[in-house]
Amino acid sequence: MKTSLAKHLTQRNLFEVLGYNDAVREVGLMGQTFESLQGRELSIQQQTWLDFVSMNYLHLQTLPAVHQQIIQDLSTWGISYTAPASYIKPSLLPEVEALLAQLVGAEETVLFSSTSHIVNSILPLLAAECTLLADEHAYFITKEATEIARYRGASLHTYRHNDLDHLESLLKEHAHTGLCIVLTDTFYPSESRFAPLPEIMSLLETYDAFLYLDDAHAFGLFGASPDEAQPLGYGGGGAITYFGLKLDRVLYAAGLSKPFGVPISFLTGPKRTLDYVRTLAPHLKHSSTPSLLHLSAAKSILTENTTHGDAMRQALLENIQRFRTLNPDIPFKSPVHTPFQTIHLSEEHARAIARQLQERHILVVFQEEPYDFSKGAALRFVFSSLHTHAQIDQLSQALHEIFAQDQYRSALHAI
Ligand SMILES: Cc1ncc(COP(=O)(O)O)c(C=O)c1O
Repeated sequence: MKTSLAKHLTQRNLFEVLGYNDAVREVGLMGQTFESLQGRELSIQQQTWLDFVSMNYLHLQTLPAVHQQIIQDLSTWGISYTAPASYIKPSLLPEVEALLAQLVGAEETVLFSSTSHIVNSILPLLAAECTLLADEHAYFITKEATEIARYRGASLHTYRHNDLDHLESLLKEHAHTGLCIVLTDTFYPSESRFAPLPEIMSLLETYDAFLYLDDAHAFGLFGASPDEAQPLGYGGGGAITYFGLKLDRVLYAAGLSKPFGVPISFLTGPKRTLDYVRTLAPHLKHSSTPSLLHLSAAKSILTENTTHGDAMRQALLENIQRFRTLNPDIPFKSPVHTPFQTIHLSEEHARAIARQLQERHILVVFQEEPYDFSKGAALRFVFSSLHTHAQIDQLSQALHEIFAQDQYRSALHAI
């Protein structure tokens, strides 16, 4: 019998109730609090720590022009205007929507406070009479929203991760019964890989289906016309521009928090669907608009992205390449150009190495039984344009010292 949350709370630490186990807490990744941050250094209990955890990849928000604009806008707009956007909104909001539309090459976009707000608002709204076909590794919040949609009457099926044959067999089975919506993330950072989007798009045509895409990890990072010099592509318009996707069958959601450091998100797709969403989405009708500080930051960061974004993406790429060049003997699971650099190890070794890094005041991501390596654990090093060469060298030196120890060197190749 399942024990209730309330009973757990009286007996056990909240982390255990939420499923974070001792190993994760022991290496200090859950429940950490820092007092200040400077670039990629955190101050934790008055000690300086190197941060290879934050997914804030580009750091355009550190540009002086962005700070000046935010201070200027603060005197015009204040901090927030507290009313739902479907009733009344500050002109900053459609300005940011227009900049986002321009960046991804869409006619228009609709702004929300977060990607979680988008998916929880629109899936139950749009999908009540649909069949939802979700990739088994679609992001947690997408899957939660599909459950709500199911409660409202949608039928829900899961296809094996990135498995086009399985997806096609489900489309064949369900497409004649009504509208099917396929749900996937665009880019899976744990495995540093895109979903097979062009192939999925062609299945949509064949079976007259639609697609919900969560581009949280590619928007702002990947862009148009990737080449040898810049495999991430240019401009940062995300998966749509990277693959040149048409939007007529796509509901596309992405956030500014990872690449641009501003916690707001947007939706785009066919115009008639956006009109419907704008009028009826519960979060636009019943929740406050994003803060004006965030809208101001988004506007100036998107503007700066047009002039400085590619240089930041270049700096990020060079940082990752530097790390890989300094660590030629480590069998990373990620390509040289993606900001999550991953090692797979046994759970015991990964935890011990994370702890050794922690003793050197370096924070990395330790993940037990992740879906890309359910046999053991993953250590992930998350890179940004703001890391300095000295910080990358410090991490590399620490890894050299650790992997000079026999048990860890052999552990690297044992799995
Ligand atoms: C794939 C994906 N989608 C959405 C989110 C959450 O985005 P938001 O903070 O905008 O709700 C995350 C967070 O890490 C994510 O990895």
